[in-house]
Amino acid sequence: MRLSQSFVVLAAVAAPFIPTSLAFGAAGHEIVATIAQIHLHPSVLPIICDLLDVVPSDNSEATLRRQCHLASVATWADRDKYKMRWSAALHYVGAVDDHPSARCLFPGEGGWAGSKGINVLDGIKNVTSILGQWSGASEEESTRLTAHIQGGTQTKSRFLSPRPAGPREEEAFKFLVHFLGDMHQPLHLTGRDRGGNNQKVVFENRQTNLHSAWDGAILTRLIRTVDRKYSHPLPDQGDLPIPSAQIEAALRHAIYDPLIRRVMWEGVESKWIDEIDDWFACPIPAPIQEPEQRQSLLSVFSSDPLAFPRALVSTISSALREKVEISPDGPLICPYAWSVPLHQLNCKYVWPAVLNFTSEVAGRPPVHKYPVLDTPEYIGALDKDLVMEKLVAQGGLRLAGVLNWLFAD
Ligand SMILES: *[C@@H]1O[C@H](CO)[C@@H](O)[C@H](O)[C@H]1NC(C)=O
Ligand SMILES: *[C@@H]1O[C@H](CO)[C@@H](O)[C@H](O)[C@H]1NC(C)=O
Repeated sequence: MRLSQSFVVLAAVAAPFIPTSLAFGAAGHEIVATIAQIHLHPSVLPIICDLLDVVPSDNSEATLRRQCHLASVATWADRDKYKMRWSAALHYVGAVDDHPSARCLFPGEGGWAGSKGINVLDGIKNVTSILGQWSGASEEESTRLTAHIQGGTQTKSRFLSPRPAGPREEEAFKFLVHFLGDMHQPLHLTGRDRGGNNQKVVFENRQTNLHSAWDGAILTRLIRTVDRKYSHPLPDQGDLPIPSAQIEAALRHAIYDPLIRRVMWEGVESKWIDEIDDWFACPIPAPIQEPEQRQSLLSVFSSDPLAFPRALVSTISSALREKVEISPDGPLICPYAWSVPLHQLNCKYVWPAVLNFTSEVAGRPPVHKYPVLDTPEYIGALDKDLVMEKLVAQGGLRLAGVLNWLFAD
């Protein structure tokens, strides 16, 4: 998504950390939401209608799946962000000192940028708990989220004291759909170069920045290059968990429909079928390491004198800075644990060593001043490992899992 020049300038002046491009692009958010829509349990659909203020034309499952659609609000949080400046920092979490790639700490010694509680991981927890208070879902009383992808496993009925969704629930719901998308754009999990906004690159002969390429152009290219066989509904092959008709009911004749069929066919229903359970795993979180602070003041004096000024500055500033923490993961909803492997993608794929002026490395005169992304080493590696495909699949299934857990009967 393009931002007006004036907003970019204003944002840069007002808050040095806010990425100039705040959003996983519109297509990314809608794809995540549509994959979630495919996996919603039927009993959840009327509640989605309520939250969206949609009165469906009839109550059949296919109609509800078609008309009460998560994608309709997937980009709301970006569209309305001019009215909601306060929420801008909720779209990402800045892990400080998380590079070089060989270390890939999440976060590094500098901890998290920004203010406590104002980041995408805490944002997901906040809005989930608001919706849980409304529906009566409690993390402690529930089975693992994987079960909720199939749905219908509640031991206890939701909505013991039903009341229609109010503005608070509707807002929390729209943020939830959006934040689950943002979390699956790896550059929303790093503080490096302002989430990649400061890393200029060249892609498809256009100069852009790394963040913007990951938000938009890389995904757009994927949409454009999907095999034509995915322009048609998938064949039904008996044993697949999701019938083709259920996928089709969630598709809206969008330009990315073929990509979604491909992600379902090649990934969700085949290649990743045995690992999906792990996508929902919530390990007991390890205690976050305290950064070494004051202890080193003295040792700084006695060690390498050349290292002194820099070490001293960083020691003092980390001692003075109040450490920003994120709140702990829950047993069922664990955005931090889910985001650890997503953040690792920054080190392996987003900022690989090969990004460093490929054309020079190849011994030819540099064609471009900035790293070029359309190379076998960069885009080729993403394609080969289905990196983008898996990100949208994980985002979509996790969103469906959370919504089914919150609302399914
Ligand atoms: C929590 O979510 C509600 C509902 O969207 C929002 O009004 C509130 O500002 C959020 N609080 C934080 C700290 O994110
Ligand atoms: C990679 O980038 C760094 C920093 O810009 C530069 O010092 C180094 O020479 C580059 N390496 C290659 C192989 O171009």
